[in-house]
Amino acid sequence: MIDPFGRTVSYLRVSVTDRCDFRCVYCMAEDMSFLPKADLLTLEELERLCAAFIRLGVNKLRLTGGEPLVRRGVMGLIGRLGARLGQGLEELTLTTNGSQLAAHVAGLKAAGVKRINVSLDTLDERKFTAITRWGRLPQVLEGLEAAQAAGVRVKINMVALKGVNDDEFSAMLAWCGARGFDLCLIETMPMGEVAHREETHLPLDGVRRALARDWGLSASAHATGGPARYWDVAETGTRIGFITPLSSHFCDDCNRVRLTCTGTLYMCLGQADAADLRAPLRGSADDAALEQAVRAAIARKPKGHAFDISRPAVARHMSVTGG
Ligand code: 5AD
Ligand code: SF4
Repeated sequence: MIDPFGRTVSYLRVSVTDRCDFRCVYCMAEDMSFLPKADLLTLEELERLCAAFIRLGVNKLRLTGGEPLVRRGVMGLIGRLGARLGQGLEELTLTTNGSQLAAHVAGLKAAGVKRINVSLDTLDERKFTAITRWGRLPQVLEGLEAAQAAGVRVKINMVALKGVNDDEFSAMLAWCGARGFDLCLIETMPMGEVAHREETHLPLDGVRRALARDWGLSASAHATGGPARYWDVAETGTRIGFITPLSSHFCDDCNRVRLTCTGTLYMCLGQADAADLRAPLRGSADDAALEQAVRAAIARKPKGHAFDISRPAVARHMSVTGG
């Protein structure tokens, strides 16, 4: 699938639920209303859509949420998707908050998941509660230990928040390095209404320069097919990545689209335009018609986003598309 700007779309991110057992301040409002169950695609429908994308050339799938591991039956879906590895699908991965990881990491590994992204913005228990509202740090740390023990590669996603965790980057890099985890710093993105976003926004260019005074960072050729730019860390043998949607553009080589748990396809994280794939899926459309609906959507993929931190670029929260 090639979009109007010549970019090949080979990466599908699938939000399997909009629900989450955390309420991170930059992601959700305190009193979120979630989708009615009837609007959700069944796991079978999600699988059928994923299969269509794989036939059309998607070789990398990432399950997100909300929190993907809180969706009932999701491990079954992961197992069935994993069975497609080597048959068009090259990588199956997951972005998770880690709360349920200890219980599920063995199943993930068995399904062929080799690496996961785990969100962890702080190592300070008090701050962790302030950021996630409902999360418990020890539970996440236990999940991370289990992943490490199982040999599943971990990348830590840390959203950079001015005045909240901006004194912890170096310590987090050391902590990750000691465990063999890569670290990825993320700028907050203006998605959905949440309080205090503007005052906590922190451009990462300065953060990287500051880290480079304490650490041996050299630009890395490493690329995961995602938006991060990576640096090798000499002292740890791990990497640090930066996702800077606001301070520098990451759209030029965008290879991804996002499917929500209701079958809505977003061709860009920062644009409202979407395609409804649930109607062709449920309207007894055969696979050819479904594939045609996907192709028509890709033909509308916009050039990029125009994020401005002072106002939401789109009304939907990050938990709808999972980033
Ligand atoms: N801006 C940037 N990152 C966000 N995340 C959630 N909401 C936002 C936002 N508004 C992060 C989560 C997770 C990843 C999927 O996206 O912390 O690590
Ligand atoms: Fe849940 Fe992730 Fe959003 Fe936090 S950022 S509320 S863990 S979906």
